[in-house]
Amino acid sequence: MNSFADTSLPSFVGEQLQTPTLEQLAPPQTFDHAPRILLLYGSLRERSFSRFLTEEAARILLHFGAEVRIFDPRDLPMAGSVPDSHPKVVELRALSLWSEGQVWCSPERHGAITAVMKNQIDWIPLEQGAVRPSQGRTLAVMQVSGGSQSFNTVNTLRLLGRWMRMFTIPNQSSVAKAYEEFDEAGRMKPSPYYERLVDVMEELYKFTLLLRGRTDYLTDRYSERKQQAAHNINKI
Ligand SMILES: Cc1cc2nc3c(=O)[nH]c(=O)nc-3n(C[C@H](O)[C@H](O)[C@H](O)COP(=O)(O)O)c2cc1C
Repeated sequence: MNSFADTSLPSFVGEQLQTPTLEQLAPPQTFDHAPRILLLYGSLRERSFSRFLTEEAARILLHFGAEVRIFDPRDLPMAGSVPDSHPKVVELRALSLWSEGQVWCSPERHGAITAVMKNQIDWIPLEQGAVRPSQGRTLAVMQVSGGSQSFNTVNTLRLLGRWMRMFTIPNQSSVAKAYEEFDEAGRMKPSPYYERLVDVMEELYKFTLLLRGRTDYLTDRYSERKQQAAHNINKI
């Protein structure tokens, strides 16, 4: 007999198993603020193409009506080298908590993301008590590189987005030979890369509108409810 004839769940499944409903995903009727997007980039260079791309992305998001913040990674110490009370750490964590969506843009260095990019992500805790500064946010990933087209860096950022339990949108931007794509003032020249950037920001904005106000329910997990219930019983 096919073992799937028995469709019952195991007896150890807790009563915290609740069938998801569309009602619980209903959006709030109104929002008192514009979608909040935090943008992070991964370079400290004066003429940084990842910063230029990030700023260009921010302009598009502003045009859509978002509130944007770009974190300046200068003077952010290496993760673990100073207490959490360091002003740059406090600033970064507060911005991540504030955000409803994020953009991460790293240069490709030796086929990977930069230390500057990773260091920022390493400072953002997955969970701090009841506070979850990254979970449930939307995320768009972008990279710039000096060489020919590559996706190493966006792939790594995508992996990190999953790790931080963010909703990473399918579209992404990878600007090859970035030194050819920006003018003296740091503005992006017309090209298919710019068109793609608009597509990516449009998609991020749409997904942020779709998910905002629903994040608590979307990140509410059976296993955590079960753990909490067991914890409450043990306290009695
Ligand atoms: C040490 C080092 C390693 C690099 N590795 C790569 C690489 O693996 N692939 C690539 O396409 N470009 C590579 N580059 C070029 C950078 O991606 C490029 O200069 C980029 O614009 C740097 O970002 P930024 O302008 O935001 O500082 C490398 C550059 C440096 C200095």
